Amino acid sequence: MNILEAIKVRRSVRSFDGRGLTAEQKRLLEDAINKSHTPFGGKVTIRLKEYDLKAGYKPNTYGMIKGAADFFLIGMGMDEASALSAGFRFEQVVLKACQLGLGTCWIAATFKNSDFDRGEEWSEGETLKVISPVGTAVKPTIKEKLARLTLGSKNRKPFDRMFFYNDFTTSVPIDNPFRESLEMLRLAPSSTNSQPWRVLVKGRAVHFYYKPKSSLSVLDTGIGICHFYETEKYYGRSGEFSKIEESPAAPDDWKYLVSYFGQ
Ligand SMILES: Cc1cc2nc3c(=O)[nH]c(=O)nc-3n(C[C@H](O)[C@H](O)[C@H](O)COP(=O)(O)O)c2cc1C
Repeated sequence: MNILEAIKVRRSVRSFDGRGLTAEQKRLLEDAINKSHTPFGGKVTIRLKEYDLKAGYKPNTYGMIKGAADFFLIGMGMDEASALSAGFRFEQVVLKACQLGLGTCWIAATFKNSDFDRGEEWSEGETLKVISPVGTAVKPTIKEKLARLTLGSKNRKPFDRMFFYNDFTTSVPIDNPFRESLEMLRLAPSSTNSQPWRVLVKGRAVHFYYKPKSSLSVLDTGIGICHFYETEKYYGRSGEFSKIEESPAAPDDWKYLVSYFGQ
């Protein structure tokens, strides 16, 4: 499965087969963690941890996750760069897991932090903010189906409501070279499916903004930017990110994050 197929088929998985990962799957996931990268700085640590379900210790996900023995733990700093990097880096691991046929689910709210944080040490300034189960998916439970329905997880906002060209009223032309990378961004997961990312394309520059919806909006936008960048890379067009001093003034309460300059 190539990266574009992974972006298209990925969905959050909350019901697993209870068998845990094989040694080879663990090795490949550890490798994905080590290879994950970010141009945005900040502090992020990603760990893969197995819980011995048979020994009776099951960290609490408030009944949301069933049958998972392995979890990623993501520790991060409090600043904007760390949030952007956490989204950008961990989504690379999520997509790799998907390519390996494994399910994941970003979880920032429905987990008991003290259960997962037990025995963990984080470097200065980092705390455990996000977890994700990882394993083989089984048929969703009723609870999972209900969660997906309530969150509207299948739906995404229309392209033209989030991505603009030259000004904040014009649609990105059909033949614009960034169009497909933005379409892949559109499919990204976000907390409560809030899709806070917004974009202005101007020439070879793609300016990324977010519409603040929660304390996770920057991290969510990092996930979206990961999909955008992976698509650019797939087509051999790795440009560069930088934060510009004079970003185009955006409407409403949108906040500027970073710009991408295509080759
Ligand atoms: C940063 C982040 C935090 C999330 N937190 C939770 C959570 O606490 N509990 C949960 O069940 N799902 C959580 N989700 C999953 C989202 O609800 C899901 O990604 C969204 O509804 C879109 O569905 P999809 O991932 O199946 O495409 C989270 C997703 C993200 C990106």
